[in-house]
Amino acid sequence: MLKARIALHTKKGLTMQSITRRDFVRLGAGAAALSAAVRPTVLETVAFAAQEAGGAASGPKVRFVSIGTGIRGCDLLRAAQLVPNGVLVGTADLYDMHQQAGKEAWGADVPTTRDYHLLLDRKDVDAVLVAVPDHQHRRVVLDAVAAGKDVYCEKPMSHNVADGQAMVEAVSAGKRIFQAGSQRVSNIVYKKAAEIYASGRLGEVHLVEGHSDRNSPSGAWVYPIPPDANEQTIDWNAFLGDAPKRPFDAARFFRWRCFADYGEGVAGDLFVHLLSGFQCISAINTVPTRAYSTGSLTHFNDGRDFPDLLATLYDYPGVTLSLHCNQNNEAGEPIIFYGSQATMVINGNTLTVTPQDTSPRPEGYSLNGWTAAAKQRYLDEWHAANPPQPPKLAAVESYTAPQGYNDTAEHIANFFNAIAKREHVVEDEVFGNNAAIACHMANHSYFHRSVAQWDAATQTING
Ligand SMILES: NC(=O)c1ccc[n+]([C@@H]2O[C@H](COP(=O)([O-])OP(=O)(O)OC[C@H]3O[C@@H](n4cnc5c(N)ncnc54)[C@H](O)[C@@H]3O)[C@@H](O)[C@H]2O)c1
Repeated sequence: MLKARIALHTKKGLTMQSITRRDFVRLGAGAAALSAAVRPTVLETVAFAAQEAGGAASGPKVRFVSIGTGIRGCDLLRAAQLVPNGVLVGTADLYDMHQQAGKEAWGADVPTTRDYHLLLDRKDVDAVLVAVPDHQHRRVVLDAVAAGKDVYCEKPMSHNVADGQAMVEAVSAGKRIFQAGSQRVSNIVYKKAAEIYASGRLGEVHLVEGHSDRNSPSGAWVYPIPPDANEQTIDWNAFLGDAPKRPFDAARFFRWRCFADYGEGVAGDLFVHLLSGFQCISAINTVPTRAYSTGSLTHFNDGRDFPDLLATLYDYPGVTLSLHCNQNNEAGEPIIFYGSQATMVINGNTLTVTPQDTSPRPEGYSLNGWTAAAKQRYLDEWHAANPPQPPKLAAVESYTAPQGYNDTAEHIANFFNAIAKREHVVEDEVFGNNAAIACHMANHSYFHRSVAQWDAATQTING
């Protein structure tokens, strides 16, 4: 088995150990006290995606094209560079500068076009990375599937419920491999969290909380508009696609997340990461039964269609999920699992499990209203029934991914490996669709001022 060398911190100090790529830097019992002062350090950085792909790398390379080479498309191409068994053979984008940026991101010249159909017509193309705005996902994915290509489609998978259903049906009917692009599902920290959750170490978990907060214009998608953006450099009509026709508007092209014709606001952009992380860790891969949202649009009230604060409570089987996104505060992106035995927190690429002392103890607080004699009698009886036991409190555990760890490369590697071996991916169309529907339910509740309810029989949101 391929191994990664990372640093293992122990009570006695730093020790180099060779461990598998699925393992982590662990701060053990004695080291827990050091955890605040000592952060796990990686002495040797490794490309995990390259290792993962190692088995398939010797076989034929996956020949892929990239449709949409804007912000995310370029990130995907940089990440794909770390994955040895894929080769980019073409790109498509509607904006001249993004076409050029895509080539720079990949680091080599490849054929590029405004018309992605020309790429799909090519027989030498196995797979497609789709990184176009959300309202275009359905059309591009359906065309790619019809052309017999396997598809990696960025999150959120769908722009609305109907789009998601159409994509699920098409992928299934076409027997294609489909990976939804929420890279946390491939993240080794999330996989470790899933392992801990499944082990039962957290006890009963009935509440999970997550948020994705950012406090800057960029965090609220007020992106700069390049000076060369105009109707000559951008194919505006192709961008609109099935959306309502309107005159060229550069703000809508570059800040499409703000507008309901193309995006879903904070739910589709940010909740989806928390939702896919939750689904992956809890193995609850379903649509929530209910969602209730509240929020407001205050600071970034610039003509956008969506709130800059959204808070949603979801009902999942046995678990209440509480999410919020606040674009007026930078409290980070933690997800917290509150168990009866321990609390598990993932913040960035670091996971911490803090056990609770659940050993029996006599009542204290309510005895304040008892007489001294009654109190003494209660305590005598309690201690007689509960002989002293050694403390059972487990140690704090903390895990982190190596510095520079790239979960997007990991996610792409999983996709390419699945294509090479005709295996299942980690985040298929059903998983991606479930997470996307939860985003749509959050918005439905906010805009209808109601509790959104999922009707599984009709596959619709009511309320
Ligand atoms: N997984 C993540 O962490 C992550 C991060 C950012 C964005 N995303 C997702 O990636 C997708 C793209 O987002 P972005 O930030 O890159 O947006 P962007 O506006 O920067 O880029 C989108 C690009 O798609 C191109 N495009 C639009 N329609 C097209 C078409 N029909 N044919 C060819 N090109 C077309 C546009 O010209 C543009 O260059 C969205 O679905 C977004 O939600 C995911």
